[in-house]
Amino acid sequence: MSTELLDLARSIATRAAASALEARRRGVSVAATKSSDVDIVTEVDRDTEDLIRSLILDARPNDGILGEEGEGVVGTSGVSWVVDPIDGTVNFLYGNPAWAVSVAVVEGEPEPASWRALAGVVAQPTTGTVFEASAGGGARADGRELQVNRDVPLSRALVGTGFGYRADVRAEQAAIVAALLPQARDIRRIGSAALDLCAVAAGTLDAYYERGLNPWDHAAGALIAAEAGARVAGLHGAPAGHALTIAAAPELFGPLEAALLAAGIE
Ligand code: IPD
Repeated sequence: MSTELLDLARSIATRAAASALEARRRGVSVAATKSSDVDIVTEVDRDTEDLIRSLILDARPNDGILGEEGEGVVGTSGVSWVVDPIDGTVNFLYGNPAWAVSVAVVEGEPEPASWRALAGVVAQPTTGTVFEASAGGGARADGRELQVNRDVPLSRALVGTGFGYRADVRAEQAAIVAALLPQARDIRRIGSAALDLCAVAAGTLDAYYERGLNPWDHAAGALIAAEAGARVAGLHGAPAGHALTIAAAPELFGPLEAALLAAGIE
């Protein structure tokens, strides 16, 4: 079942990616702001999510859908789709290539604490790379198996992070980065949580953490990172999600979690 769902997720994500890239070439502007001035949505986010929703419902009319830009659909099949039509919307607006379409298929409630991810695809249209994983089936991109970097101490780790959009959380996040930066090789803010998690899977980052993610930001990427050998969780063994998501090889996870706790992360 996971393989069929992965095939469908790949076909939907790549169609959506091609459509969004074409729209990007025609030009993009901000349609609205959401939680703050930096939290934006474009018409392309909305149109791409509409396309993804119609492709899902054509193929599997009884499934649920949780998407960034629209109302949740409660399904009856026990399977739900967790969709971010454009993860990295600010990059998309500016023409920075780090944005992606993220499509995950989960079993159970569409809440990270109680779902089981079955398949995930993160398609980056600007490079043509398609990251994908199915539960128990490993993670791949461009025809190669993905494996996280192993045995990297925190002092030599390239750590990705992201910043939520609310002004109060941004000040706290800046303080955590200030405490962590002298302890790691360096820090990256790529601007797409889905691509950050895929970067851990591919070894172009050693680790990633972020507070305040929404389910659609991490659903597909977390499965891809986990299937590439990362431990993906919150603090003290909590499930990854809104409070905190950390992804790293198992031996790096503990030192990074300890450093984040010492820096005052909650
Ligand atoms: C955002 C990106 C960003 C992360 C934010 C997300 P969006 O998603 O993933 O990297 O730091 O927390 O909200 O708004 O571009 O879909």
